Amino acid sequence: MRRRALAGAGPRPFLKWAGGKGQLLAELIPRVRAGLGDGGYHEPFIGGGALFFELARLGALPERVTISDANPNLVDTYVAVRDELDGVIDRLREHKARHDDAHYYAVRASRPRGTAARAARVIYLNKTCFNGLYRENSRGEFNVPMGRYARPEVLDEANLRAASEALRGVSISVADFGGVASRARRGDLVYFDPPYDPVSTTSSFTSYAKGGFGAAEQARLRDLVRELSGAGVRFLLSNSMTPRVRELYAAFHIDTVLAGRSVNSRGDRRGKVEEALVRNYEVAAGG
Ligand SMILES: C[S@@+](CC[C@H](N)C(=O)[O-])C[C@H]1O[C@@H](n2cnc3c(N)ncnc32)[C@H](O)[C@@H]1O
Repeated sequence: MRRRALAGAGPRPFLKWAGGKGQLLAELIPRVRAGLGDGGYHEPFIGGGALFFELARLGALPERVTISDANPNLVDTYVAVRDELDGVIDRLREHKARHDDAHYYAVRASRPRGTAARAARVIYLNKTCFNGLYRENSRGEFNVPMGRYARPEVLDEANLRAASEALRGVSISVADFGGVASRARRGDLVYFDPPYDPVSTTSSFTSYAKGGFGAAEQARLRDLVRELSGAGVRFLLSNSMTPRVRELYAAFHIDTVLAGRSVNSRGDRRGKVEEALVRNYEVAAGG
């Protein structure tokens, strides 16, 4: 049984997140549709949730869905948008009215207790900070300076309501990606979107949260997909097309697609880069 398509324009991701998959949706959607059978769907690196929200919008998600991420601030925000939306919206309305330099730095320094207030803090900082990206330092602190936007969209109430509806009935947890092994059953589909394997030493933006994600983590992830694959679980995985990724996943189908993300802060290296989409199931030609 499928969840129904959501009415209206939304939902879209309510946070801008490093590695967001908005650019790759046209490649991902047909592959997810081909991989979904009668089972559940899992995203253990949910980030901004670009694919999850698009699947919700299309009514393509099954009944049993789990999303998780290692970043507790991110996961708390999803939970609050699902369960305490009115509280989140009230606080965002207040942030919007009070937004200026002083308010930004006061919110950045604050550690609110309540779930709704913490979520509103993350969303407000994400919408108003420099580059609009949530990054934490090695102590797990958010230390990005304020951005210079004329009219930052602090509160998009219609989209938050659509996102909240998409999250209803979805299991949301803080977890290392390895936790998906206990949730995924034979016939389920798991989409893995790990931090990118760096294409060059200067592009190694892999520290989304304290801990980082190096070669050993990439290998641990491959071992997990091998195990799941052996247990009859389907998987789709995206990463940069690097020699390491090619080697790690040589036993599976690897499609090369072009993504529009920029891999280097130098203007001349911006543009399309090759991305690997790895899977352990067949996709019919043309869809
Ligand atoms: C590429 S991003 C996901 C982007 C997302 N699919 C989107 O469209 O916005 C990778 C995510 O992995 C999370 N992460 C890093 N290490 C992890 C781990 N060991 N287990 C689970 N999640 C992890 C980060 O917090 C980050 O949100």
